[in-house]
Amino acid sequence: MPEKPKILVTRTLPEPAARMLAECGDVEWWTAKDFIPKAEIIRRLPQKHALICLLTEPIDEEVLNAAQELKIVANIAVGFNNIDVAAATRRKIVVTNTPGVLDETTADLAFALLLAIARRLGEAERFLRAGRYKGWDLDLMLGVDVYQKTLGIVGFGRIGRAVAKRAQGFSMRVLYADEFRAPEEMEKSLNASRVGLETLLRESDFVSLHVPLLPGTRHLISTRQLALMKPTACLINNSRGPVVDEAALAEALAAGRIRGAALDVFENEPAVHPTLLKLENVVLVPHIGSASVETRQKMAVMAVENVIAVLNGRRPANIVNPEVLG
Ligand code: GLV
Repeated sequence: MPEKPKILVTRTLPEPAARMLAECGDVEWWTAKDFIPKAEIIRRLPQKHALICLLTEPIDEEVLNAAQELKIVANIAVGFNNIDVAAATRRKIVVTNTPGVLDETTADLAFALLLAIARRLGEAERFLRAGRYKGWDLDLMLGVDVYQKTLGIVGFGRIGRAVAKRAQGFSMRVLYADEFRAPEEMEKSLNASRVGLETLLRESDFVSLHVPLLPGTRHLISTRQLALMKPTACLINNSRGPVVDEAALAEALAAGRIRGAALDVFENEPAVHPTLLKLENVVLVPHIGSASVETRQKMAVMAVENVIAVLNGRRPANIVNPEVLG
């Protein structure tokens, strides 16, 4: 490794990550307000030893073909579906992500979305701001209760479990669908039972998705699954957009087949299905699951630590393709 490794970063990073990185090499920052175009990554990549990027940037075969010296792609996100990991592995490039530090923050947002759709917060705020509020009324903006309802969690990993923890404060029954069963002690303390996806969809008042995007989870929720949900139920998604068939969801919501949805992620971000934008029974936010000041600082530090480790010949803490290191 040269004395001063060259590092490309596709965004300015918060402190202390920016300082830590500047101390370990020559850093080229993308400082423009717009996202870095793919062609610019390709143009800047050839002499770089490390790349720190966001989940908005596709790091595919074409980009990786431009890499001549690259040792690591450090994604600032837990999900890494924007990176062609197999192509990176073939080139012996380490890929890292930022798991763990964002679990609680992401679970907070899932719960905020759940409460928002249950109590019609988006719709109520639009109503008030439009000057339509004429006074307290008995049937104004009636929502549904959350406490003591059934929450179905699809994907019972770290984030799913953090959502279940929050549900305990609302005395909710938790059902979860996952390949693996959680330890019995944990099930007990979270009032959670493992069921199949179909049972979960049939019995839950709120269904919250917490699976990674994999070939097997693409369109996990489509017309058939939506039809299994109670007409009074709501869907919450702050995992990855393509886990839900957005056109099928828009149709189900427009037809009133389920009560509502609250979405932080979309199938073709940043585009949102035009029908969803017109509907009142859906809460829409722009992929802000991990967007707290504290958590974004931690994610940036984690990505930088991964880069520093690889540039110093050490194993990074959050390697996605350990086979590269043998
Ligand atoms: C955000 O969506 C992440 O994967 O960290």
